[in-house]
Amino acid sequence: NAHRIAAIPGDGIGKEVLPAAQRVLDEAASRHGFALSWCELPWGCAWYAEHGTMMPPDGIDRLGETDAIFLGAVGWPGVPDHVSLWGLLIPIRRAFNQYVNLRPARLLPGLASPLRECGRFDVAIVRENTEGEYSEVGGRFATPAGDVAVQESIFTRRGCERVLRYAFDLARARGGRLVSATKSNGLVHTMPFWDEVTAEVANGHPDVEWRRMHVDALAARFITHPEDLDVVVGSNLFGDILSDVAAAVSGSLGVAPSANLDPTGENPSMFEPVHGSAPDIAGRGVANPIAQIWCGAMMLEHLGHPAAAADVLAAIERVTAEPALHTRDLGGTASTEEATSAVIAALPAR
Ligand code: NAI
Ligand code: MG
Repeated sequence: NAHRIAAIPGDGIGKEVLPAAQRVLDEAASRHGFALSWCELPWGCAWYAEHGTMMPPDGIDRLGETDAIFLGAVGWPGVPDHVSLWGLLIPIRRAFNQYVNLRPARLLPGLASPLRECGRFDVAIVRENTEGEYSEVGGRFATPAGDVAVQESIFTRRGCERVLRYAFDLARARGGRLVSATKSNGLVHTMPFWDEVTAEVANGHPDVEWRRMHVDALAARFITHPEDLDVVVGSNLFGDILSDVAAAVSGSLGVAPSANLDPTGENPSMFEPVHGSAPDIAGRGVANPIAQIWCGAMMLEHLGHPAAAADVLAAIERVTAEPALHTRDLGGTASTEEATSAVIAALPAR
């Protein structure tokens, strides 16, 4: 009765917050009568320094045998960020068809947020995760007029349709409202195509109230009037940027979770915080473990344990409600260990 989970702490604070979250999840699982069997994988920039790759050649095959992937963060000074990203995260997202990057954001109790006064902030950002602006097509060219860099975007009908369908389905299951991020005034090929496919998918979801917004205006909306946002869907780049905005306005990157999902269930999905390896605070035991723990709750839900997931979220909220348990990014003095133990202590009794 144990789920096989690949645990990849990665680099920097990933090595601190991932073990912290594992402790919380093990405790929640045991209270709900199931177990997590962890397969620890020491991949990342230290592995790269030794082997010249971010993971072993059979890395994807090994991950393919698991039920889910739980990842901390990868990236460390000395290894260029595009090497760490394209050597580990992006191959995993693509090999396992994790075409949805789901990033919930809301106001947790007790956190100072510029949005606190507006009362309501509870959004789910759905980011396309396999194509779009993150492409390897292009290059650098020396021309008589000077150096030129070209970066192409790839938008396929299949790629747009499947992520938009996921987003509209999610909107139907949540508040029934959706905003699609576009920029069809400036990007004249890809964005009108994205908009066209959005309208087609919307036709199949007459019960969802939706509209398009240019991504710049939408980013501003997150700050000025976030209360009427519910599901927000965007391309790879737009979804990435909007989710950092959402994380920042909801309190801290240290509380922002994300899931890379293969909604078909054929492949393992991957759960990782929005934040990176935070070299500026790594190794000091002060990183906020909440984002990683929330990712763990999303993983439990995905594995078919919604009650255990709800318990973890309830425990997180009890901890954020107590300023004495806040880590430094939230303005407090608690350590990673203190915040983690507090979450475990706050798990509802079963
Ligand atoms: P970052 O997210 O690591 O840090 C940005 C700021 O937020 C820093 O001041 C950091 O101390 C703070 N912060 C982040 N997470 C925190 C937490 N849990 N608790 C308290 N404070 C926290 O982003 P940055 O500095 O741009 O990137 C550092 C490295 O991480 C780079 O190598 C980058 O490529 C990598 N990275 C990896 C990601 C991933 O694995 N998915 C995502 C983003 C960045
Ligand atoms: Mg990002």
